Amino acid sequence: MARRVVVLNGPNLNLLGTREPHIYGTATLADVETWCAERAAAHGLEVSCVQSNHEGALVDALQEAGADADVVGVVLNAAAYTHTSVALHDAVKAISVPVIEVHLSNPHAREAFRHTSYLSPVVDAVIAGAGIHGYGYAVDHLAALVGTTAGATTTTPEG
Ligand code: DQA
Repeated sequence: MARRVVVLNGPNLNLLGTREPHIYGTATLADVETWCAERAAAHGLEVSCVQSNHEGALVDALQEAGADADVVGVVLNAAAYTHTSVALHDAVKAISVPVIEVHLSNPHAREAFRHTSYLSPVVDAVIAGAGIHGYGYAVDHLAALVGTTAGATTTTPEG
C-alpha cells in the first residue's frame, strides 16, 4: 500500500457544515477529507480518514496508525476529547509516527475549558484557528517531516 496520512476526527465533527457554522464554517467532513486527500496527493501520499464519536475508537485508530509501516503521520482533531482525554494523550505518546493536532477554531480564544489540551504536550505540532486550511497545512507539514519531494502546488479548498 502507498505511504499515507491518517486523518482522525473526533466527536461531532461528522456534523460539520451544519454544526455552529459561525464557529466551524460551512465545509462538511467530506470536504475536509477531500481537501486532505488533495494535499496528500500533491506530495505523493494517500489518506485514510476515520471519524468517531467514541474515545476508545479514536485510541484504536491511533494504535493502528502507529503499527502500520505505511503511515507517515496522523492529523488529529480530537474535538472535545482534546480537553478531557488522558487516554488519547497516552495513545499519542505510545506511537512513534508524528501527530499533528488540528482545530478548525482557535480554542484559546473561546471558553476557558477549551484552553487546556491534553494532546498539545505530546504532539509534534498544533494548528488552530485556520479552519479547513489547517488540515491542509498539517498534511503539508507531515510531508515535509517525511521528506516527500512533490508539493509545490498551492491551491485552496472549497468551502
Ligand atoms: C474543535 C475545538 C474543540 O474545542 C471542540 O470541542 C470541537 C472542535 C475545533 O476543531 O475547533 O469539537 O476541535
